[in-house]
Amino acid sequence: MKDDYILNINNLKVSIDDKQVLQGIDLSVKKGEVHAIMGPNGSGKSTLAYSLMGHPSYELDSGDIELDSESIVDLEPHEKAQKGLFLAFQYPMEIPGLQMESFLRSAVSSIKGSEETKDVFDFHRKVLKEMRYLGIDESFADRYVNDGFSGGEKKRAEVLQMLLLQPKLAVMDETDSGLDIDAIKVVAKGVNRLKEKGMSILIITHYQRILDYIHPDRVSVLSGGKILKTAGPELAKELEKTGYKDFVPKKSSLDVKF
Ligand SMILES: Nc1ncnc2c1ncn2[C@@H]1O[C@H](COP(=O)(O)OP(=O)(O)OP(=O)(O)O)[C@@H](O)[C@H]1O
Ligand SMILES: [Mg+2]
Repeated sequence: MKDDYILNINNLKVSIDDKQVLQGIDLSVKKGEVHAIMGPNGSGKSTLAYSLMGHPSYELDSGDIELDSESIVDLEPHEKAQKGLFLAFQYPMEIPGLQMESFLRSAVSSIKGSEETKDVFDFHRKVLKEMRYLGIDESFADRYVNDGFSGGEKKRAEVLQMLLLQPKLAVMDETDSGLDIDAIKVVAKGVNRLKEKGMSILIITHYQRILDYIHPDRVSVLSGGKILKTAGPELAKELEKTGYKDFVPKKSSLDVKF
């Protein structure tokens, strides 16, 4: 049933500078599912994440993206966020001068509505509760957004944002790169908490490490701009042993359009 899926991507083709990077992506994510996308470097994983967001450099040649049975290809990024899409990128932005808690309050208010943050003390309590859960020092609430944060601290701050926003679908691109084990465990805690609450997560990575802590329900392999296989969690284990040699695209991938 279509209603069982939070995300449906149909025949998505996307180009950057006249080079077609996504060559017909078909992918679906079930409600409440943790779905991992794995694939070699340069296969189009980040392009897929940017295309979901609607980044202006990525040209949509054809196809459709539905979030909760509704097409989102023509929506602005903030409208997508209001519909429940959250994207976590590898390099979160630094905003000197804006304190974390103020930022979180504005984000929650603009995405979920001002009712959610009307009671400042109640919101503060919620922030502290999630910070404690993630093992983030309370002093971070007063620090400027990502300013001087280490890679791991930025990631923790992003997971905190995700827990407060409670999106329907969180898309996380290469969340594990550059993180130590403790930071990966924090990310995993956040993801597992969202899953417990019935939300869905699409986790994009080129290697297995984070999947030792986050157990995907399904795994898809993206190579040469296409999804070549979707299977259960055993596929991630298999890829750890064999690498991507069985998923070499048939012809030279990433064709140049003429
Ligand atoms: N802004 C851009 N301009 C030109 N080419 C790009 C751009 N972004 C991506 N590409 C190209 O598109 C292809 C796919 O890149 P993408 O970043 O999606 O790969 P990836 O699967 O995320 O790789 P990695 O595992 O290294 O993160 C690559 O050949 C890359 O060079
Ligand atoms: Mg990438």
